Amino acid sequence: MQATATKEHLNFQAEVKQLLQLMIHSLYSNKEIFLRELISNASDAADKLRFEALTDGALYESDSDLKIRVGYDAKERTITIADNGIGMSRQEVIDHIGTIAKSGTREFFGSLTGDQAKDAHLIGQFGVGFYSAFIVADKVTLTTRRAGLTSEHGVRWESGGEGDYTLEMVEKADRGTQVILHLREGEDDLLSGWRLRSVIRKYSDHITLPIVMKKEQWSQEKNENTITDEDETANQASALWARSKNEIIREQYEEFYKHVAHDFEPPLAYLHAKVEGKQEYTQLLYIPSRAPFDLYDREQRHGIKLYVRRVFIMDDAKQLLPNYLRFVRGVIDSNDLPLNVSHEILQESKDIETIRAGAVKKILGLLEDLAQSEQDEEKAKYKIFWKEFGQAIKEGVAEDYTNRERIAKLLRFVTTHADTDEQTVSLTDYIGRMKEGQEKIYFLTADSLTAARSSPHLEIFRKKGIEVVLLHDRVDEWLVAHLTEFEGKPLQSVAKGSLDLGKLEDEAEKEERDKEAGEHKELTEKIKGVLGEKVKDVRVTLRLTESPACLVADSHDMSGNLERLLKSAGQKVNHAKPILEINPHHPMIQSLKYEQKHFDDWSQILFDQALLAEGGQLDDPAGFVKRINELLFTRSVIITP
Ligand SMILES: Nc1ncnc2c1ncn2[C@@H]1O[C@H](COP(=O)(O)OP(=O)(O)OP(=O)(O)O)[C@@H](O)[C@H]1O
Ligand SMILES: [Mg+2]
Repeated sequence: MQATATKEHLNFQAEVKQLLQLMIHSLYSNKEIFLRELISNASDAADKLRFEALTDGALYESDSDLKIRVGYDAKERTITIADNGIGMSRQEVIDHIGTIAKSGTREFFGSLTGDQAKDAHLIGQFGVGFYSAFIVADKVTLTTRRAGLTSEHGVRWESGGEGDYTLEMVEKADRGTQVILHLREGEDDLLSGWRLRSVIRKYSDHITLPIVMKKEQWSQEKNENTITDEDETANQASALWARSKNEIIREQYEEFYKHVAHDFEPPLAYLHAKVEGKQEYTQLLYIPSRAPFDLYDREQRHGIKLYVRRVFIMDDAKQLLPNYLRFVRGVIDSNDLPLNVSHEILQESKDIETIRAGAVKKILGLLEDLAQSEQDEEKAKYKIFWKEFGQAIKEGVAEDYTNRERIAKLLRFVTTHADTDEQTVSLTDYIGRMKEGQEKIYFLTADSLTAARSSPHLEIFRKKGIEVVLLHDRVDEWLVAHLTEFEGKPLQSVAKGSLDLGKLEDEAEKEERDKEAGEHKELTEKIKGVLGEKVKDVRVTLRLTESPACLVADSHDMSGNLERLLKSAGQKVNHAKPILEINPHHPMIQSLKYEQKHFDDWSQILFDQALLAEGGQLDDPAGFVKRINELLFTRSVIITP
């Protein structure tokens, strides 16, 4: 079959154009990263070929010597990056080069503000990839052929980065991808072997494939450097993680991170360890500085690459880390697994279980070190970590039973102790501040911090100076369902059950309460009669000092907050009737005792107000407004002389 000679014109997906503009403007000062990005793609392409060749050796087409080639032509003003990796079919070129298929794309474009300075920062997080070529080039020609297809299935893609591209079928004898950058005016400084080599060493030294360039020699005759025919490797080309720690400098760790994590910013922290014993493996794991756009997307990619004896096996090996650590990036290289290990084998492998347990321990250890460090820099890192990934760690309490205690120590919260919205208080801090006689860790869940802070349930705790943990993240209800105690101290919701402050209450207070319950029996019964099915019970409270009433859930019922959360997530829940607690010292309650005519309305309002105060929604908001207005009116008539 002859390759079709027709050239098609196609348009980029609308977002690509926007991305290109943004990138060229915001990244120009760091333009040489284009080389890192293209080399990184070439290296990924080689990894993909190796992985596919595990099951189909023919894909190597008698050339298994994988490498990346970088060259330049000063006369033509071009730079060329070529690989003999997996290559792309015509459809793959359209899907991968004409479209942004990356995860988090929607979120990324949704968060763009139009303000260039702010957006420049976002693009760093999003990653720029192939399109970074247009920072320095005004035309890019990509020629590729997928491994396994015949030579007439070559594809040539070409674009000026303006909004459209051309595509044509060409002959390509060798498998893989070649990218030619036609440099923009004024970019001639890049046309230098010395310059390209130094960029490669700076950003791509860790790439495990050789990055080959033609050797250059000084020519006396021409009085200039001339390019010879001899190949020369410009990078170290050995697996970074296999080297010993003291041979690796921080910048090398960071560049390697940017490549494996597809991130643009340096990592927050990393660990590099060789484990010996029953299982031998090396792990080089990183905590990013920022949560990806899709951290909470269930389909999110996992960032661990699995190697077996330095040979790349697979990306995103989900079995290597539990879900709550899905933000960790890096490499695990096993000495013991078979080379032809598949996803299925991974799922059942005891060896993988051991590796996974070891990796989790190491990561928790790294986080503990940051959290407990006396150094300000490390402490600040833990704060950043918590802000970015705290919610994921909270999931770990439910997911990872074995490490629950350790994870619980890493948790940070807002509490009533300090007036900040930042989650900084650990449960250990909390216990350290517990009042004499306090046996429980008190918490309150609400749908926002503001709602939590102004909740009537906190009144008695404020009065007695008892600290309460304020929980308002979506995962918090899930968290407290699994974390029932910490270091022997039970966790207790302040909005559930009959409040028993134990030793925090003195005898006199207890007696007083019992007395009041007796005295108000008639009133509570009467209110209950009015509210009927809306409540499980009505009783006198000791929680309140300022508000007239509040709602609490029975000890084993779902909290109002959890019920609302589940409902908003579209789940069916059995409604648990709340208990209405009234504050006998409040003037509203006191006058209610003598109220005849409007008793029913007052009782309804009391309930509705309590429901609103805890973040609930009224069944009949219009009825509530009407009742309030009527009562306001009758009151003002009485008061007006
Ligand atoms: N040299 C290549 N060989 C084969 N496929 C390639 C090559 N370069 C790019 N691709 C394909 O194009 C896609 C887009 O590349 P691009 O660099 O923009 O994104 P990425 O590599 O997936 O992520 P990142 O933003 O981290 O670079 C790749 O995922 C890959 O499928
Ligand atoms: Mg890339």
